Amino acid sequence: LYIGVDLGTSAVKLLLMDETGDIKKIVSREYPLFFPHPGWSEQKPEDWFTQSVEGIQELTAGCDKSQVAGISFGGQMHGLVVLDGADRVIRPAILWNDGRTGEETDYLNQVIGKEKLSEYTANIAFAGFTAPKILWMKKNEPENFAKIVKIMLPKDYLAYRLSGSFCTDVSDASGMLLMDVKNRCWSKEMLDICGITEDMLPKLYESYEVVGTLKEDIAKELGLPATVKIIAGAGDNAAAAVGTGTVGDGMCNISLGTSGTIFISSKDFGVDENNALHSFAHADGNYHLMGCMLSAASCNKWWNEEILKTKDFAAEQAGITKLGENNVFYLPYLMGERSPHNDPKVRAMFMGMSMDTTRADMTQAVLEGVTFGLRDSLEVARGLGINIERTRICGGGAKSPLWKKMVANIMNLKVDVIESEEGPALGGAMLAAVGCGEYPDVETAAAKIVKVIDTVEPEPGLVAKYEERYQKFKRIYPTVKDLYQ
Ligand code: XUL
Repeated sequence: LYIGVDLGTSAVKLLLMDETGDIKKIVSREYPLFFPHPGWSEQKPEDWFTQSVEGIQELTAGCDKSQVAGISFGGQMHGLVVLDGADRVIRPAILWNDGRTGEETDYLNQVIGKEKLSEYTANIAFAGFTAPKILWMKKNEPENFAKIVKIMLPKDYLAYRLSGSFCTDVSDASGMLLMDVKNRCWSKEMLDICGITEDMLPKLYESYEVVGTLKEDIAKELGLPATVKIIAGAGDNAAAAVGTGTVGDGMCNISLGTSGTIFISSKDFGVDENNALHSFAHADGNYHLMGCMLSAASCNKWWNEEILKTKDFAAEQAGITKLGENNVFYLPYLMGERSPHNDPKVRAMFMGMSMDTTRADMTQAVLEGVTFGLRDSLEVARGLGINIERTRICGGGAKSPLWKKMVANIMNLKVDVIESEEGPALGGAMLAAVGCGEYPDVETAAAKIVKVIDTVEPEPGLVAKYEERYQKFKRIYPTVKDLYQ
């Protein structure tokens, strides 16, 4: 048996998989997210650990625990976790969707320069990346910065607490802006720029490599054998790609989670010349390009729960009857935007309402606006000459048939639906299985485990209607962005 832990932003999801790839059980546990200032986003690493430990206990209750062989992870990326000399967490983790580092991001991109950053790391600075957060701490919390002995990413904190191994993996580490992605090693230049040393950083592993075993006391607490292997795991997007079989060359996966991502796997290392897409290492030993929007399914959650005061998202969507026809536009920038605008200050908006606009039109506009935002990143990939005709899909938003249909028609892609939408948790369990020798490599595991059960085809009439609307959507951001600077 293998356990996959998806350490997400709103909850940790844990999945138990047997050696044939069958999902035996899934449990989920929530923890709070803190917004202490506008645009800031933090969580407590202790919450992640407590909920994960209780989650593993709940997940394995009733199974033969002696059969559990490995645990691995898909973790929310980019979060800055800092520990002092006594392994105490120094301050709450600063998350991937935190926008406080505008100044540091500008310093890196403009003073150090995008060309140098791209040469050192294959990427430029975005507000959510880890390096600008280290610079922010150095300037704004010097007493905390001086205490730093260990720097790690969210899922690496779990691996550290479970196994004692101070480790990370190349896919997640790619998003720190501290790693030379092409050569899969730390960048000495970036460490100097951030004023840190290599011993503060975890050891780098491939995502499917074993980093240790459960610590004795933790094994006892969990009721699991101390021989259970801990496998490095991956950033949640790379883990989701594994869980949807987006491995090897030229495959695409879309994730409609709190964030929205478009992920393109590649055997070759490549960088887009404007660095609008992230160029990261993949969990299968190769590389990938990725566009990430900061608010995807979270826009729908905000609209339903905060504004409409309902939790019945399906009932709201049932009112939508005119796909492709809507005068209302929604810009999905509740937390600013990462790809492709790199603008932490922009905010969301509705436009185009009239006296006959309905509640369903507004709900439709939210779902469409998020999908148009994702298409912005797809267009960057298409502009690089990458031919993408089909995609896989995962994340909470992928449970909605209507949203999948929008993705197919707004992006003009065939959408392959996978048997299980549990992207990162399943990917984590698959990485654990590979690490334990159940499968020779990630591609073989994906070929054996992941099954496409349906395809949503784009419809030419709808594609044409959405094309016209997308051309208008594209013009809104450049028109309004100055209002927020
Ligand atoms: C990717 C990113 C998000 C988080 C969400 O670059 O920031 O997708 O990983 O957990």
